[in-house]
Amino acid sequence: MPGFELWSDEERKEVNDVLETGILMRYGFDGPRKGVWKSKELEEAICKKFGSKYAQLTSSGTSALTTVMAALGIGAGDEIIMPCFTFVASFESLLTIGAVPVLVDVDDTLTMDPRAVRKAITPKTKAIMPVHMCGSMADLDALTAICKEHKLILLEDACQSIGASYKGKSLGTIGDAGTFSFDFVKTMTCGEGGVVLTNNKDVFIKCDGYTDHGHDHLGADRGADLHPFIGYNYRISELHAAVGLAQIRKVDTVIAMQKKNHALLKDILSQVPEISFRRIPDPAGDSCTFLSWFLPTEEITRAVINELKAQNILAGNFYWFDNNWHYIRKWDHLKNAVSLSALHPDLKAAVVHHANKDFSASDAIMGRCVSTSIGLLWTEEQVKDKGTKLVNIIKKVLSGNFVTA
Ligand SMILES: Cc1ncc(COP(=O)(O)O)c(C=O)c1O
Repeated sequence: MPGFELWSDEERKEVNDVLETGILMRYGFDGPRKGVWKSKELEEAICKKFGSKYAQLTSSGTSALTTVMAALGIGAGDEIIMPCFTFVASFESLLTIGAVPVLVDVDDTLTMDPRAVRKAITPKTKAIMPVHMCGSMADLDALTAICKEHKLILLEDACQSIGASYKGKSLGTIGDAGTFSFDFVKTMTCGEGGVVLTNNKDVFIKCDGYTDHGHDHLGADRGADLHPFIGYNYRISELHAAVGLAQIRKVDTVIAMQKKNHALLKDILSQVPEISFRRIPDPAGDSCTFLSWFLPTEEITRAVINELKAQNILAGNFYWFDNNWHYIRKWDHLKNAVSLSALHPDLKAAVVHHANKDFSASDAIMGRCVSTSIGLLWTEEQVKDKGTKLVNIIKKVLSGNFVTA
């Protein structure tokens, strides 16, 4: 997915503008900064590019999620329904504010199954948080309908899906609010950083204060700012925002390159009738950072992974089922509520409840899924070579020619 593959003089120029002034902070120092406001400029560019009324930059995608939850009034004891296939940051962000993660099954979109969401709703449910994993989207029509019916907040974790869209609208701008991550491996990167997207002015104003110690940002004198509420420091720096300014101009190019390589690889894998592909609710909106495919059984999938390892070509092919970062199966720290500071006993009980929850429906999908990350700089020859090697291995395994690990 990474925009870092297109690193160039453009990023260096933007960073240099900041280095010339020496003002690395996004607020204040109006004189010495000589008109250089990279964070503000990037927020404006984000609104324009992705079609959001407001954008609040943050220090990371994780802090963007925490910030927007606080701004949406989500807090202690509120249940947030989220998928069991995501990155650990999705639940970390809500534990920070004392909210309760309620993990539910994913379906063949690799995102939350709307039927599982319906079953998980309780009187304590406050929000539904789909995670648009691996560059593609959740079924937003179904989830929006559930939110309307039950008067719930729809918060999109679009950290992995910058540049993807659903029915013509950018992911992250469809619900009450959404977030992107600009960490180093995202479609556009700031090195580290994130953003909250929202069309709601009140939510935006709260995010603006929350990320900067609750300062109200109303006067010209920063030192005289008042504090309508308690905030934290989740600010981005000017250096990081400068990188993002160069990167955002490249997003269309990144997506076009991904789409081209993705289509070519998909064509090659389609030769094997036993391979099926991830269901994409709006295929035109897929950012194509990954090609996710399924094999008929977990045993066959494991054998393919073992063969890829044996031939030293596993890199770039992700078997999430065994992955420590992305799937509930390996999140023992969450299931045992291992935290450095004490969690509220009720929250702890809700978290450890996940240890015995049935995720067999998700296991049946994730156990058969491989996601191949799409390189930007691959030549056509390289895509063909990768695809052919994959096909040969899959055919070999399907013919029964494999040893189980
Ligand atoms: C789905 C998801 N949510 C949130 C995050 C957190 O973003 P960050 O690394 O910028 O904190 C990530 C990062 O990979 C992610 O993949």
